[in-house]
Amino acid sequence: MSEAPVINPELAGLKTSRRGKVRHLFDLGDQLALVASDRISAYDCVLPTGIPGKGRLLTQISKFWFAKLESAKPHHLITADAAEMPESIREGAKALDGRTMLVKKSEIVPFECIVRGYLAGSGWKQYQKEQKVQEHSLPPGLRLGDPLPEPLFTPTTKADEGHDEPISFAGLVEAVGQDMADALKARSLAIFKEASEWALTRGLILCDTKFEFGYSENRDPAKLVLCDEVLTPDSSRFFKASEHKPGEAVKPWDKQLVRDYLSGLDWDKTPPAPELPEEIVKETVNRYQEIHDLITGA
Ligand SMILES: Nc1ncnc2c1ncn2[C@@H]1O[C@H](COP(=O)(O)OP(=O)(O)OP(=O)(O)O)[C@@H](O)[C@H]1O
Ligand SMILES: [Mg+2]
Repeated sequence: MSEAPVINPELAGLKTSRRGKVRHLFDLGDQLALVASDRISAYDCVLPTGIPGKGRLLTQISKFWFAKLESAKPHHLITADAAEMPESIREGAKALDGRTMLVKKSEIVPFECIVRGYLAGSGWKQYQKEQKVQEHSLPPGLRLGDPLPEPLFTPTTKADEGHDEPISFAGLVEAVGQDMADALKARSLAIFKEASEWALTRGLILCDTKFEFGYSENRDPAKLVLCDEVLTPDSSRFFKASEHKPGEAVKPWDKQLVRDYLSGLDWDKTPPAPELPEEIVKETVNRYQEIHDLITGA
């Protein structure tokens, strides 16, 4: 393999102020440097094996969408270009080679804003049992990979530890108020729609995705700040339009390949997670790269 994975990125001697499953956050006052490592997580566990170059691809994909989508504004990205970063981190960000985003520090709304345009994953599982996805009743006879009558907003809690749990829209209203819940839903659906249309021009179907938003200073629902990574293969499922046949298992893209490999093992999905074999790593790198190239036109 030509490149060693970056597992624990360091930036200019700064202390990591938060270590997510994939990203490290470095505190710069009003701003944060968000550095995407090459770590990969599945079933909420970080795997011991890295995916070389993944962090760079994720950062570059997010950067593309932030610039491309009108509906992404306002968002947190200041720059992903090392040359435009403050001197204190410029050299460090250069060395991390495209993995760093300088962002506006935000107070994150503690819910994950998931949008589903197609039936897959946990939505498909629930549909088979209840003909519903969260509280949304659906027509009978839908197959795995079928488009939903319209994209659905299916938020979850954002658990500090353990698994995120689905929350109904009424539950979200109770937690953040009607106006904020309406705004989270409307923004999420608008970004999903604009991104789906663009993805299709590149031969990709956006199946589902997750957004995170930050509150604006005065908590104005009209000014929710789109945060985190956006529309990457870590936060989304993409299908290739040319390969997509509802009812048939879709070619596992990106993380799905890793999930499928892991679910074939005798592993109980609690840490420590097993290593990935070299073929799975290679194939995963190739798929992240291909999605990156398709989306950004690189
Ligand atoms: N602009 C921002 N201001 C503050 N925090 C942010 C901002 N953008 C993203 N974040 C946070 O940075 C972290 C990104 O790291 P990563 O995606 O690796 O975390 P994670 O393992 O998914 O953790 P979490 O469950 O907390 O999201 C997330 O906690 C996300 O909420
Ligand atoms: Mg995350």
